[in-house]
Order: sequence, then C-alpha cells, then structure tokens
Amino acid sequence: MLYSLARPLLFTLAPERAHELTLSMLDKAHKFGLMHQKVAHKPVTCMGIEFPNPVGLAAGLDKNGAHIDALAALGFGFIEIGTITPRPQAGNPLPRLFRIPEAKAIINRMGFNNDGVDKLIENVKASKFRGVLGINIGKNADTPVEDAVSDYLICLEKVYNYASYITVNISSPNTKNLRSLQSGDALTELLQTLKDRQLELAEQYNHYVPLALKVAPDLESEDIRFISMQLIKFKIDGLIVTNTTLGREGVENFHNGNEAGGLSGAPVFEKSTKCLSQFAEILAGKIPLIGVGGIVSGEQAVAKQQAGASLVQVYSGLIYTGPTLVKDCIDAMTV
Ligand SMILES: Cc1cc2nc3c(=O)[nH]c(=O)nc-3n(C[C@H](O)[C@H](O)[C@H](O)COP(=O)(O)O)c2cc1C
Repeated sequence: MLYSLARPLLFTLAPERAHELTLSMLDKAHKFGLMHQKVAHKPVTCMGIEFPNPVGLAAGLDKNGAHIDALAALGFGFIEIGTITPRPQAGNPLPRLFRIPEAKAIINRMGFNNDGVDKLIENVKASKFRGVLGINIGKNADTPVEDAVSDYLICLEKVYNYASYITVNISSPNTKNLRSLQSGDALTELLQTLKDRQLELAEQYNHYVPLALKVAPDLESEDIRFISMQLIKFKIDGLIVTNTTLGREGVENFHNGNEAGGLSGAPVFEKSTKCLSQFAEILAGKIPLIGVGGIVSGEQAVAKQQAGASLVQVYSGLIYTGPTLVKDCIDAMTV
C-alpha cells in the first residue's frame, strides 16, 4: 500500500538514485520499528538448511550486505547478498540501470559495483540478522578470466564463516567473458577447485557451508546437460536458475529496450522457467533448484515450484510490485 504511493515518485528519479533512496528509507523505517511484514511460516529444508519460508531476495539488490536487517523485516525466508569481488570496484559508468515499466522489466549493466569482500564481512558482522544468509561471489573485472578461480577462492575463504550458503556467480553478462566459465574445462576446473576447498574449510571449521552455482538463462540444451553432469560429479549443493538474459524478447519496441546489459523482470520469466524445467528433468532431484527470473506475482512463484524449484528468489518484481510481492509469493506457494 505504502509502496504503491511511493512508486510514482520513485519512478521520477533516475533508477539508481531511486534504488539508493528506497534502501535508505527502508533502513530508517526499520530503525524506528516501522518495518515489519508479517508472513506465514512455511518451512522448507533445502541444501541441508531449514528456511522459514521459500521466498528469498535475489543477489544484486544488496551487493555489500549493507541493508540486511531492513530487508529481512520484509519477511524473506532468506537473503542473498553480493555479488562481491575480492577487491572493491566501481562497476560500469552511469547510466547503467534502466526501467521498462510497460513490460515490468529492468535492464542493468552494473558490472559488479561493490565495496569488496572485506567490507561485506564487516557489514555482515554488524547486522543482527540470524536467518538464512546467502553470499554471492564473483571475480574482479580486471582479473583475467584465466585466473578467475583465484578470485572465487579468495571470496570463498573469506566469506565461509559468515554465510549459510555461498553462491558462485558465473552468469552475469556484465563482466567480460564471465559466462565462458559455464562451459568446458573452465567450469570443471572451477567446480573441482571450489569443492576441494569447501571440504577443507568444512573440516577446518567443523561446519559445512553449501555451495550453489548460479547460471544464465541463455543456455543451449547441450550446455544444460554438461553443467548438470558437472554439478552431479562435484556434488555441488544447489543450482540457482537464472540470472538476467541477453535476449530482448518482449522489450525490443519499448524505450530503453535495446540498452546493453542483462534483462530481468516479467520478460525473462518464460526463458528462465524453461531453463529451470530442463535442469529439473536432467537433475531428477539429485540437486535442489532455486528458481529466479520474472516473478512479479505469486502465480509465477508457483510456476517455478511446479517446474522443479524448492525455493524462489525475487528482484525486479519488487521494484514494480513492492514488498507485498514477498507475502503474495509465500501465500501462493505450497510447501
Ligand atoms: C540491477 C540488478 C543487479 C543485479 N546484480 C546481480 C549480481 O550482482 N549478482 C547476481 O548473481 N545477480 C544479479 N542480478 C540478477 C538477479 O539476482 C536475478 O537473477 C535476475 O534479475 C532475475 O530475477 P528477476 O527477474 O526477479 O529480477 C541483478 C539484477 C538486477 C536487476
């Protein structure tokens, strides 16, 4: 209700400014005890973790984990922060975030703007949140893709003790060649190295933190098959399907529709959900799936579940529908 009043005003601002303003208003409302969305308790166990409900915040909205407590008050069953990189980086030049309201869509080419992994850890330590926290890790833009594994390792080691699960993001379209890590020897080497290190860390800390992989929706059937085989081979704990798309179906004729970057929101739903179904069919329950992409109402959350997802995440839908989307999805889903 409140959000539907604020939205027209927010939409008069540049998208990135509106984003910052919304988060700072959310922080203030939370600080004064004004923010608490009551949601149903619908526990789900996934990747060995108990989630209070199956609806999470997708990565990218709180890249540095600077707003965890306020976001948690919206009722999410889990919050994923990041993508974080080893060193801070500015990301791409502005403008880099575009609304397409006619299609309930967003195009972004942020380029992993973030304050670096050390700052994220400071923020996590300062937060009071004791719920399920995913930390999404990536590589710096100036690290050659051949050395990507070392960036993921740095992040994995640093965040290990602060995360409920860790997401390996190899699917952002806005870091040059990142998506090449989704195929061939690059994927095998990445998963092998991270899995080995995860097991060592589990022994060192006497505590196992699950690893999830996040993939793009722009995959061919043979890519899906290959990735699935690697996930099974290396016993990866979860798969997040999907990131944004490079496709422009459904937005080509709208203002901003041809901006460079990743498209999210309603137009990615079909492609993303098809990708989810294909993974679900091949993985046949061996690896749990988290469905994300184009959820703008409870109906799409249910469709993700029907396509094989144990959990879902939302991002762009929040911008168009507001926080009630979290409650609507939880209410609609069966667990
Ligand atoms: C502005 C913006 C920034 C994003 N940044 C990240 C990111 O840093 N890491 C990541 O894994 N996904 C990122 N995403 C992708 C979302 O987590 C999600 O996978 C995608 O937007 C599809 O879901 P949606 O249609 O609900 O937005 C970003 C999305 C948007 C719109």
